Formats: sequence, C-alpha cells, structure tokens
Amino acid sequence: MTPRPAVVETIAAVRSAVRDARRTGARVGFVPTMGALHEGHVALVRECRRHADFVVVSIFVNPSQFGPHEDFERYPRTLEDDVRRCHDGGAALVFAPPVSEIYPTGKIATYVEVPGLSDVLEGASRPGHFRGVATVVMKLLQIVQPDLACFGEKDYQQLQVIRRAVADLDVPVAIHAVPTVREPDGLAMSSRNRYLAGDDRRAATILHKALQAAVQTVASGERSADRVRQVLRETIESQQSAVIDYAEVADPVTLAPVRQVDAAHPAIALLAVRVGPARLIDNRLLPE
Ligand code: PAJ
Repeated sequence: MTPRPAVVETIAAVRSAVRDARRTGARVGFVPTMGALHEGHVALVRECRRHADFVVVSIFVNPSQFGPHEDFERYPRTLEDDVRRCHDGGAALVFAPPVSEIYPTGKIATYVEVPGLSDVLEGASRPGHFRGVATVVMKLLQIVQPDLACFGEKDYQQLQVIRRAVADLDVPVAIHAVPTVREPDGLAMSSRNRYLAGDDRRAATILHKALQAAVQTVASGERSADRVRQVLRETIESQQSAVIDYAEVADPVTLAPVRQVDAAHPAIALLAVRVGPARLIDNRLLPE
C-alpha cells in the first residue's frame, strides 16, 4: 500500500517536498485540478503515476477563471473525499492552497494570454476564462516544476491553450492528454454533473448521443463539416430541455472552423449545451 498523500497548503512546502523527491532521483508528475474529484480525475492521476515516481495533485478553485456570474462560490468543495481519490490514483502529494497563497495581494499584474485559441468557443462564451486558466496553470507549473503534467481531453480547448502556452514560453514540461472518462450512459464525467438531477441528468446524455451521431455520419462517408454541424444541432434540438451554446466542427490544433472532414483532414466536434442548471461541454475527434 502506498501511504496516504501528504496535504500541504503553501508553495514553500510543495517546493521542499519536490526537492526531496528529486534528490532520490524521482521523476515528478503533476495533475492540476479544482477538486470535487471523480473517476475522470483519478484516471489522470493514474496516467501520471505510470510515467512519474512522484505525483503532485493540486486542488485549487481558481477565482480568476470564473466569470462574475459563474459558480465560483457554489463550486463543490470536497477536500477529504478528494484526498482519498488522489490516494487511489497513487499521488504522493496534494497541494490545496488558500486563494491568498496563489494571489497574495488579491490581484496580479502579469497574465498569460493565448489570443485566437482563447477567444473562440468556450472563450467567446466565457470572456477571460482561458486567461485565468493559462495564468494559473503557468503559475502552478512554476511552483511544482514537474517533468510531465496531465490534462483531460474532456476540456479539449483548455488542453490546446495550455499546449500552446507551454510551447510559446518554452516551459520544460511534457503535456500528456488523457481520454475522457464517461458514465455508463456516455455522459462525460464532470464536477458540474452534481448540478444535474432527475430529468436533467437523463437529458444530459444528448451531448454524447449527438457526438455519436456525428461519428456515424462521418463513418458513412459524409465529408461536409456543415452537414456534420447540422447533425449535431438536430440531435441536440431533439431534446427539449437542451439549449445549444455552440456546436462546432473545428481544426484540432487551431480550433478554426473547417469545411471538410475525412481521414486526411481530421477535425474535432465541440459542444457546449445548457441542460437545466448545468452548462455541459463535450467533444470527439472525427473520424474516430
Ligand atoms: P478540473 O475541471 O477540476 O479538471 C482537472 C483536469 O481533469 C483537467 O485536465 C480536465 O480536463 C480533467 N478532466 C475533467 N473531467 C474529466 C473526464 N471526464 N475525463 C478525463 N479528464 C477529465 O480543468 C480544470 O479543473 C481547471 O481549469 C485547471 C486546469 C485545474 C486550472 O484551474
């Protein structure tokens, strides 16, 4: 049995633990999270542990990536359960800082921005969101200084934003992408699924169904991205309680809309859909 991970709240304590681990020759892995951990997060920790001897998980609900009317205050906070899940995944250290440790004066003056990637899709609906994400992830990478860091494909645009920022700023870290972990009915696991109950929970499977329909459409020989967009929209609109924010078929690296989808021109289908009180996102590579 691996020991229960140590839980620390300060940057100094993380640096000291990582320094000790490195002295033993350990390869250091990192999984940034906002807590309310589920099996999707545990898959990231496990994947990280496969490639690293010493895995750090951060649990920090980052205020700078939430809009003024978003769910920062009511975002679920479940530290004890989270530490247990980190243990299950094989983490050695949990970094759970208070906001004052990461933003000591309340505000910072330096931000990481990735124009182009940051202002479309999620970024268009949530202005400033990816600036907050990219900035806190760069800060966390400076704090932990891992050899590798794992991110979920569930948040595909976030993954691309981080890959680009890491490449542009020459951050010496390998970024590993981990496939989306789903509930048995196909719903992508998310901390925000806790906001779904009853009919809304059942209706939420429409994102997965729409992506499946897109996969089948492309598999049957359809190459027009507009036709695939139409299939996504029509499938989601068949569910009365679902409201589309966006349903896009985009270049997997630049996230610019594409005209054609086939084996030589793979694309990513990206969805954001409101179901009851929850705003859900999901995506799928086309063709599979
Ligand atoms: P959070 O939503 O907690 O997600 C932490 C990591 O878990 C992200 O890399 C996300 O893509 C991954 N993840 C979430 N659900 C998943 C699923 N069903 N399958 C696989 N991976 C999944 O994303 C954030 O936090 C924050 O923006 C963060 C990067 C920590 C910066 O604050």
